[in-house]
Amino acid sequence: MRHSAAFIALFAAVPWFAKAQPGFTPNYDEAAVPQYQLPDPLVYENGSAVAKAGDWPGRRSEILSLFEKHVYGRTPSHIPGTVTYEKRKSISFMDGKAVLEEIRIRISVKEKSRFFDLLLIKPKAAEQTKFRTFLTLNFLGNHTLHPSPEISLPESWQPPNKEGIVEQNRATEKGRGHRVARWPIETIIGSGIAFASICYNDIEPDAPDGIDKGVRALFDPPGEGDWGSLGAWAWGVSRAMDYLATDPQIDQKRVAVMGHSRLGKASLWAGAQDQRFALVISNNSGCGGAALSRRAFGETVLRINHNFPHWFCKNFRSYNNNEAKLPVDQHQLIALIAPRRVHIASAKEDLWADPRGEFLAAVHASPVWKLHGLTGIGQSEMPPIHQPVGGHVRYHIRAGVHDVTDYDWDQYIASLLAVP
Ligand code: GCU
Repeated sequence: MRHSAAFIALFAAVPWFAKAQPGFTPNYDEAAVPQYQLPDPLVYENGSAVAKAGDWPGRRSEILSLFEKHVYGRTPSHIPGTVTYEKRKSISFMDGKAVLEEIRIRISVKEKSRFFDLLLIKPKAAEQTKFRTFLTLNFLGNHTLHPSPEISLPESWQPPNKEGIVEQNRATEKGRGHRVARWPIETIIGSGIAFASICYNDIEPDAPDGIDKGVRALFDPPGEGDWGSLGAWAWGVSRAMDYLATDPQIDQKRVAVMGHSRLGKASLWAGAQDQRFALVISNNSGCGGAALSRRAFGETVLRINHNFPHWFCKNFRSYNNNEAKLPVDQHQLIALIAPRRVHIASAKEDLWADPRGEFLAAVHASPVWKLHGLTGIGQSEMPPIHQPVGGHVRYHIRAGVHDVTDYDWDQYIASLLAVP
């Protein structure tokens, strides 16, 4: 029996009952994946087919509105205020091999304002050199990416740690360099690529009441079909891209947006909406990211809405245990990036994020590249570990757990260098 959305929404607030629902205990058995039919990215809602590349923008807009209405919520199209950029630091870095900059991006609407700090590290080169660039989101603060004492701590409100103590979390001095393993900045700079990052909590704290402290507080309160925090983080990435577009040393046509896990979801949503990104990278993004929702393998729509009620728009809750009714699935999120480039990565042991579901989404998005005369993933068999595949849609799966490793970065660097 199916429960109505209202019934589920009511009881999702009651933990013991929610846990008794199907879809709460994760399924990790391929044989128990439900039969499903995916919406076709190349067929309009009225049943007519997209026959040529020139017709793609129309279908693309239709898919984008469906994701806005049912999944991530609508993002405001303009800022009813002002945006300022303040370069707070510009110093020689990495023994003169790079330049480190910190830019405060401030958005002001009437009497309120919010800011977030962009860390930008560029290889040292002649002023007229333009760099390919990774624009990334990080979890714990820009200072966690590198041990240098030059990188400022986040100044915005940070969610407290499990014990409720902000001072003990990694957003403080304690976290400096804590995440170096995930960010091989020297290798990136050594490849002639610039690196930029923002702490996502700076844009909006990742908590159910984070909205008051983040950028969404500058706009009208969101309704059922308006943006959640994933929308806010993606919006912040686009505001950082606005800044990068003012820097003559950034090659605007070769910027990749990258994020891991929930930030991989935000990165896909940013890249789906904002066509300035030449390459979109999803590292282990899973449910609500690159993985097909209809497979309900690992994390489900019910589970993600229950655990993170602030991430998506409220309408998304009507698909709790009801994925077949979703007018879209995540392969269409990937398709929104066409004919630009996308790189999806999974980790073998990261079953919660459904590696096979991430690969299949890449497969089912690929006809849109084919329509453009380009190779998408180019195969329907999932590759073994450490054998990246694909053309404009790249995919790799590596050994190990949910994480970002040097192996992943080697693939992303190759993908960014492949942008002509
Ligand atoms: C949780 C969540 C995932 C998310 C991950 C992360 O595991 O369920 O959806 O991707 O956190 O962001 O690390």
